[in-house]
Amino acid sequence: MIDHNTIQRIIDTAEITEVVSDFVSLKKRGVNYLGLCPFHNEKTPSFTVSAAKGIYKCFGCGKGGNAVNFIMEHEHLGYPEALKYLAKKYHIEIVEKELTAEEIQQQNERDSLLVVTKFANSYFQEKLHKHTDGRAIGLSYFKERGFRDEIIQKFELGFSLDIRDAFTKAALENGYKLEFLEKAGFTIVKDDNEKYDRFRGRVMFPIHGLSGNVIGFGGRVLKKDEKTAKYLNSPESEIYHKSKVLYGMFQAKTSITQTDKCYLVEGYTDVISMHQSGIENVVASSGTSLTVDQIRLIKRFTPNVTIIYDGDAAGIKASLRGIDLVLEQGLNVRVLLLPNGEDPDSFAKSHSASELIDFITKNEEDFIKFKTRLLSKEAKNDPIKKASLITDIVRSISVIPDTITRTVYIKECSRILEIDEKILYSESNKIRKKSGETEAKTISPDEVYKTASPSVPSFVEGYYAEHQEREIIRLLLHYGDLVLYTYQEDKYDEPRNVKVAEYIISEILNDDLEFKNLVYKQIFQEFLEGMAKKELPESKQFIYHADPQISKLAADLLSPSYTLSKIFKKGGVLIETEDMKLKQIVPETVVAYKRKILEIAQQDVSEKLKEVQDKTLSSEEINTIQKEYMLITSAISAISKDRGWVVFR
Ligand code: CTP
Ligand code: MN
Repeated sequence: MIDHNTIQRIIDTAEITEVVSDFVSLKKRGVNYLGLCPFHNEKTPSFTVSAAKGIYKCFGCGKGGNAVNFIMEHEHLGYPEALKYLAKKYHIEIVEKELTAEEIQQQNERDSLLVVTKFANSYFQEKLHKHTDGRAIGLSYFKERGFRDEIIQKFELGFSLDIRDAFTKAALENGYKLEFLEKAGFTIVKDDNEKYDRFRGRVMFPIHGLSGNVIGFGGRVLKKDEKTAKYLNSPESEIYHKSKVLYGMFQAKTSITQTDKCYLVEGYTDVISMHQSGIENVVASSGTSLTVDQIRLIKRFTPNVTIIYDGDAAGIKASLRGIDLVLEQGLNVRVLLLPNGEDPDSFAKSHSASELIDFITKNEEDFIKFKTRLLSKEAKNDPIKKASLITDIVRSISVIPDTITRTVYIKECSRILEIDEKILYSESNKIRKKSGETEAKTISPDEVYKTASPSVPSFVEGYYAEHQEREIIRLLLHYGDLVLYTYQEDKYDEPRNVKVAEYIISEILNDDLEFKNLVYKQIFQEFLEGMAKKELPESKQFIYHADPQISKLAADLLSPSYTLSKIFKKGGVLIETEDMKLKQIVPETVVAYKRKILEIAQQDVSEKLKEVQDKTLSSEEINTIQKEYMLITSAISAISKDRGWVVFR
């Protein structure tokens, strides 16, 4: 248990931008900070952090909260564990009693798995350094490989004894439950109820989550003749998802941010050897082919990746497979193949640190050079092979989301392969059209800013404007999927269509407003989810909704009689229908909603002001009320004053 005062201290000390920055690379934008949301996949940043308010909010997926919530959400921790994490970060001491068996039981599953895994980590390290076998077999193996003491400490390397159930026994004796030993993959219970350790007689590589918790292990066999796989890894569990983890990220992230670059290698020992040579911005995909989640993880820290693989056939194949995946996620990718037979581990061993860095910078090449060099030997005198090489490279270029980067590569490709740029452009455009590049993206706060209506002060909350809420829902149901306006950030960008639903949703979220009518709120929520999935709900979804209140409302609002009443006469003759005037109606409806809320709030505060004389309020309290009144009044006048803020074209 953490006592109340300590909790308060932690909350007061934790600085939201510092906490978030450990996981997301933030850039200052006006008074806020902006970055790529760690909770959903996005290409344009919509994750906003307000240092002043101490909160984060993603306008894409809607996640938001304070520093503690962020850690809970991001690290999948419970409330007390998140507090402990922050306490550790800010060196705030938490006096806590030893966990009893009963308390261990009370922890939720994730926490329990983390606790067991942490115990295992210190157990394996202790065996490596203190146990005779550990020292004679494990430690001497690491030493033989050239790992120095400080690097063994830094990566918390360990050793598992070659005894059937040594670890399981020790863990049970220390009060850890079998259930979690099994779930975390340390213990295997056979049919005869005998318990076996998964890791036996192996050197252990702990795998850390981003915040430094150990979430799994890789264990390497030492016996040469062994038929088992060279590496045995922890199984998938609540805390360890192999496809989302990169080995070494925890140790590398600071350096990745500082150097704005990440090296991607294959294995545990590659990471460790490069660290030992002074290159710390390196992570490993651990033998699996690279996943989208792993690339996104890198992207949170830097857009620049260099893939360093063996120069053998398998390495080349893996590199080629990795390239398009990385390009597609909008990263800049370079490739470095080591001389055949070498991996980063062996290369780092046989060369000095400066030779290694020198070799990397001289030999890493962008993917076009890489592919061209690989394939051009055959292609040189064979026009058909050359054509297919070009198609191959253009295909890679086509998956790059950013227009400028694409242009740069097309120029380069044109130069190297001696082909007219125009041809490359038209090829690339063809491929892009085919893959349906015109999907609607979620709106980013930047874009909202340019078109937003004046906002409602954050202390104004909880007011119910039934009629206005209903109007907004009506617009969502009728026109949510229609394009409201087209937006182009600068001339290099492709213009982007902003839909009615996107506009309305960002307006509401931007001001932290919430519908009070629960039926409306639910409909709004479903639009929000649809927007995150880039698939706005159709009106049918609501007409046939499982919730009868929603289906009834939808039928009502979507009925023709309701729409017909919304027809505008122009000059008495021409009839304009509502959908022709969306650019005017949609923002006006949003403004009307905000103004209504402000007016109710104003009423409320002015009542309070009247009562001030009768009550014994401190001058500070009176001050606050007066200030609120002024802020609301000026917000109302800003919102009523002019409509010049509508910049739709
Ligand atoms: N790997 C694995 N299971 C295996 C083989 C490999 O999980 N049976 C993963 C490990 O993460 C390993 C990486 O793939 O680090 C690369 O494999 P490899 O190059 O064979 O291993 P190295 O890291 O080079 O290990 P060592 O130098 O000790 O042989
Ligand atoms: Mn190796």
